[in-house]
Amino acid sequence: MRTPLIAGNWKMNGSLAANATLLASILGDAAAVSAELAVCVPAPYLGQVQSVLGGSPVRWGAQDVSAHERGAFTGEISAQMLLDFGCSYVIVGHSERRSYHGESDELVAQKAQRVLANGLTPIVCVGETLEQREQGATDAVVSRQLAPVLDTMGTQLASMVIAYEPVWAIGTGKTATPEMAQQVHARIRAMLAERDAESAQQVRVLYGGSMKPDNAKDLLAMPDIDGGLIGGASLNASDFLAIAQAA
Ligand code: 13P
Repeated sequence: MRTPLIAGNWKMNGSLAANATLLASILGDAAAVSAELAVCVPAPYLGQVQSVLGGSPVRWGAQDVSAHERGAFTGEISAQMLLDFGCSYVIVGHSERRSYHGESDELVAQKAQRVLANGLTPIVCVGETLEQREQGATDAVVSRQLAPVLDTMGTQLASMVIAYEPVWAIGTGKTATPEMAQQVHARIRAMLAERDAESAQQVRVLYGGSMKPDNAKDLLAMPDIDGGLIGGASLNASDFLAIAQAA
C-alpha cells in the first residue's frame, strides 16, 4: 500500500512574510489530511521552513541540488547542505531545469544518485512536450529520461519518487485526463518492474501539471497515480489542502 504524497513545488515564489502565512495555514489543517504532505521551497527559505515545520507531520524539501558532493562550484547547493536543513525530498530534473538550464538525462541521474547517497529522497521528474505527445513519442521520451536514473539506482529503486509532469500541462491550466495520465504512470511502473518487481510496487509515481482541487480527485483515483506535485495551487493553502484531502 503506497501512502499518497502531495508535494508543493513553490518554484521561485515566496517571501518570509508570505511563507509564514502560508505555512501557518497548512499546519493548521495538516492533521485532517491522511496523505503525506511536503513543500519544496526556494533554498533561502529552508531555514524558515525547518523552524516552522520541524516536529510537525509536514515534510519539506528543495527544488534542485548539485550533482557534486562539495567543492569549487560557485552558486551550487549540495545534498549535504539540504540534509543540514532537515530536508526529506529534493526535486530533480524538473522540466524547467531541463529546458532553461540544459540539464541532460545523465545529469539528472547523477543528481538523483547524489540525493540518495546523502540519505534524502529524490523526486525525479519526467514528461513529454506537446510536440512529442503529438508525435506519439510520450513513452519513448519518458523511457529515455528514466533509463539513466534507473541504471544508477541499483538496489535503491524503492527509495525514489517519480513525478510524471507532461510539459504541456505545467502552468497552462491544461491537465492530462485521468486516463491519459494513468496510461503513462502504468508504463513508468512497468519500466520499474523490469528492474525490480517488488520495488516497483513501492515507488510512488506522482502526477504534476495543473493539478487543482477540481481535478485532483479523478486523477488521484487512478490506480497508478500515487499523489501530486503541485505548482501554482500549492501557493494557496486552501487549494493545496483540498488537493491533499482528495488523495
Ligand atoms: P502547475 O501545478 O502550476 O501546473 O505546476 C506543476 C509543476 O511544475 C510542479 O512541479
